[in-house]
Amino acid sequence: MKKINFLNLGKHPITNNFLSTANPKNEFFYNLKLSYHTETKLISLNNFVPPKKMFNNKYAHRASASITMREAYSSLAQKIKKKFNSKSILEIGSNDGVFIKHFSNIKNIGVEPCKNLAELTTKMKVKTYDKFWTFQLSNQIIKKHGKFDVIYSANTISHIHKLDETFKAIENSLNLDGVFILEDPSLLKSLQKLSYDQFYDEHAYVFSITALKNITKKSGLEIFNIEELKTHGGSNRVFFKKIKNKKFKISKNVYHHLSNEKKFGIHKLKTYRDFAKKVQKSKESLIKIFQKIKKEKKKIIGYGATYKSSTVLNFCKINKNFISYFVDTTPTKSGKFTPGSRIPIKAYKGISDDVDYAFLGAWNFKKEILKKEKKFIKRGGKFITHVPYPRIISK
Ligand code: TYD
Repeated sequence: MKKINFLNLGKHPITNNFLSTANPKNEFFYNLKLSYHTETKLISLNNFVPPKKMFNNKYAHRASASITMREAYSSLAQKIKKKFNSKSILEIGSNDGVFIKHFSNIKNIGVEPCKNLAELTTKMKVKTYDKFWTFQLSNQIIKKHGKFDVIYSANTISHIHKLDETFKAIENSLNLDGVFILEDPSLLKSLQKLSYDQFYDEHAYVFSITALKNITKKSGLEIFNIEELKTHGGSNRVFFKKIKNKKFKISKNVYHHLSNEKKFGIHKLKTYRDFAKKVQKSKESLIKIFQKIKKEKKKIIGYGATYKSSTVLNFCKINKNFISYFVDTTPTKSGKFTPGSRIPIKAYKGISDDVDYAFLGAWNFKKEILKKEKKFIKRGGKFITHVPYPRIISK
């Protein structure tokens, strides 16, 4: 199998490494390049960043930080309880417990290598393994707790480098009739929305259904259903069963997704070469917007110091000269500086009266944010976004 590099996004820091000072010594940078795998059609980073550099006891992301996500996880938990009548559930990447906490009446186990987060769920009385997901860990868990009816993993499998081992360990931990539910950003949506910021150190992969089908076959898993989600700007919730389990029928929508992806050209290298050209144009156009606003001596802040925005800021070389500071609701981010671009982050207390423009770092919550910031828009405040193309939003 060949891996072909199709886009070079330049030097990038660890997105989760929110800095304590604007002038750090020895900030770690790596080259962010994207690759196409000829056989599996998988899209990955060209070089992976060592997991311990990213997932450690300083991990800042809290899955429960937004109302949208809290509600989404709560309603999904109710749906799973109803649909699969499960007596046991394992979550890989349980973060701050926003999902797994809803299963306190059945056997619920979390796996979370970031110790600060694992501590949170342990306090919630969810047995949590503060380790990376491996085949060895899956054996350790099933020895103690048995196999599972449901395994759930949101925004985590795309972070794990060794995919074959990951899926084999999942198959190993499922009951025969068990279901594995994976949620990760959709490659098709990222390509359509030109959201190249879906690529950063943690996202070792951005999955298409086509690639997921190709890479899970040898682990004895197959896709039987797919739901499209709005989270992270467009994600897929993919339901897997064991190939040998004939209880679940393969839904028509699986074939529908595969044929849609084929129509788009998800299997072709040319699609990615075209994407790369569009990304370069998007960069030029975003920089022009920032330069024009700065010339007019207007004040720009950033809204939501997301991991995604790290890719945009570092790729487009947008720093403090353009964005005065970011506001963000995550307590662990406030008082820090954005990685690489070194822009101060303030705790969100509304948008100050002297702000003219706010760059939507959290563009995936555009609806929630625009609703919340009606006052800002009413007084003439505007948002800047780069998705699906760089532009100013004034209503
Ligand atoms: P997230 O959606 O997880 O994106 P990523 O995975 O790229 O980091 O992060 C959203 C960030 O935006 C999080 O730090 C919270 C912040 N945020 C706000 O500050 N205000 C808001 O109204 C919303 C919705 C999010």
